Order: sequence, then C-alpha cells, then structure tokens
Amino acid sequence: MTFAQKYGPWAVISGASEGVGRSFALELARRGVASVLVARREAPLRALATEIREATGIECVTVSADLSDPESAATVASAVGEREVGLYISNAGADTNHSRFLDADLAAWNLMLQRNVSNMVASVHKYAGPMRERGHGGILLINSGACYAGAAYMAMYAASKAFTLTFAEGLWCELAPQGVDVLTFVLGQTDTPAYRALLTEVGKPFPTDWASPDAVAAEALAKLDKGPVQNMGFDENEEGVGPTSPAARRQRSDFISQMAAASTFEA
Ligand SMILES: NC(=O)c1ccc[n+]([C@@H]2O[C@H](COP(=O)([O-])OP(=O)(O)OC[C@H]3O[C@@H](n4cnc5c(N)ncnc54)[C@H](OP(=O)(O)O)[C@@H]3O)[C@@H](O)[C@H]2O)c1
Repeated sequence: MTFAQKYGPWAVISGASEGVGRSFALELARRGVASVLVARREAPLRALATEIREATGIECVTVSADLSDPESAATVASAVGEREVGLYISNAGADTNHSRFLDADLAAWNLMLQRNVSNMVASVHKYAGPMRERGHGGILLINSGACYAGAAYMAMYAASKAFTLTFAEGLWCELAPQGVDVLTFVLGQTDTPAYRALLTEVGKPFPTDWASPDAVAAEALAKLDKGPVQNMGFDENEEGVGPTSPAARRQRSDFISQMAAASTFEA
C-alpha cells in the first residue's frame, strides 16, 4: 500500500494552525492525504487550507474548537462527518500553566487535562474503531521527554504526557496486530511559536540546536510503523535514550501484555 492508501484519504490534526501541526498538514498533503485542521483560531487554519490547496490541489477542512472544552471532540467529529479518517494526530498539548502544581488553580489544571488527555482519548476512540475494521490506519500521539519522569514545574504536564506514553503502548499492543499503527513520538526542544512565546515570556534565549517543525513532521511520519515509542532525532537503540529506548519499551510492553493476557484477559 502507498502511504496515502494506508493512512488516507483523511487525517485529523489537532493544533494545526502553526508549528508542528501545520508542518504535518503540509507534509501529508505532499503525500496525497487531506487533513481536517483543528485549532482555536480560524484565520490561520483557513490560510493554511488555502496554501495547501494552491500548492497541491488537496482540500482541507478547518474546525475552530477549544480542545479543553468537553464537547470539542464531538464538535470535531461532526465536522469530520462521513469522511474516512486514516490517520489521527494528537498534537496540541503543551503546558498551559508553567507553574508548580499548587500555584495554579485546579480549574486551570483540569482544562489542560481535558485537552491533553480526555480529548485525545475520545478522539482515538472515535477514529481508531473504523481503522481497525478496515485493517489499516495510524494513531500518532505527539509527546515530550517529560513523559519519562515527573519534575518540578511540570508535575501535571509530565503526568499528562506519561498517560500518553502508556496509552500509546497499550493501544499499540491491541491495534498493531490488527493493522493499525500506533506511535507516540517524543519531541525535544522544537522551534514552535508556542515555545518561542514561552521562552520570551521567561526571558530565556532561543536554543541553537532545537528541531524544526518540518523535521519533526518528516521524522514522525517516517517512523509511524515503528511504534509504540520513538524519540525525535534518536535511532532505535541510540546511546543517551538508555532505558527508555524504543526497543526496551517495546519489549516491556510485550511482556506486560502477555502477562495480563495470561493472568486475566485470555483463556
Ligand atoms: N515546542 C517544543 O519544544 C516541544 C517540546 C516537547 C514536546 N512538545 C509537544 O509538541 C506539541 C506541540 O507543541 P507546541 O509547542 O506547538 O505548542 P501547543 O500549544 O501544544 O500547540 C500549538 C497548536 O495547538 C493549538 N492549540 C493549543 N491549545 C489549544 C486548544 N485548547 N484547543 C485547540 N487548539 C489548541 C494552537 O492553535 P490555537 O492557538 O489557534 O488554538 C496551535 O495550532 C505538544 O504536544 C507539546 O507537548 C513541544
């Protein structure tokens, strides 16, 4: 199967108005896959849709929705309508509060959890079912190195990303044998408008070695069938990723799945 046959004809991309999500939409259009572009701001989504249509002839649908609203997954699904979704990309998910846990309101943390966790779960539940029936498709959950450990100033962000990591591993165990690729792609520092704004706000210089959003999109799509976990800029067993290397995590996921199947879930 070609890329477009396996992961098309439509992708749904959260956080597509700029940065990594925008790069995914452009790269997917070059590969013949149309996108449903989701973010809050309608103007940059419409501009991107026009840019893609003029450059490639590929159509896009734009959906303005706040993913921290519990109704947003349904709003997006209703805009998707009967379109066949072969790829779901959960991308919007940076830390919205940048504070110690007790120094932000519980309500603010709950909004982040709604966007980073609940909306993602609802969307995977919606789009992965038909992929499983068709026997092909892809689930791509953008992640952060924060998924590997909790740390001060990002207890909730890291926890939401750890959820994404474990969720992806479990989904990969369940869906990969049925033809659906599942990957959580772990980013390091990346040159996005949101991260630039944060660095500016806290008075830190821009890194000289951060990844470009285009490079992230290209590498993530190239590794889509090498789940459940891959790290941006690292090879499979590269030194430095150490015990969290994709191979080690995959082995652990397989082992725990087999134990659960043997002890509880399968005859
Ligand atoms: N940049 C980095 O250095 C870095 C490092 C590690 C991991 N990551 C991960 O990479 C992903 C993208 O990060 P990012 O830096 O580009 O920032 P981001 O804020 O996660 O993503 C920006 C995109 O998401 C949209 N968005 C944000 N909040 C939204 C909401 N409530 N509802 C709908 N859309 C929303 C923004 O558009 P609107 O403003 O128009 O809504 C924009 O299109 C995240 O999952 C992040 O954890 C980034």
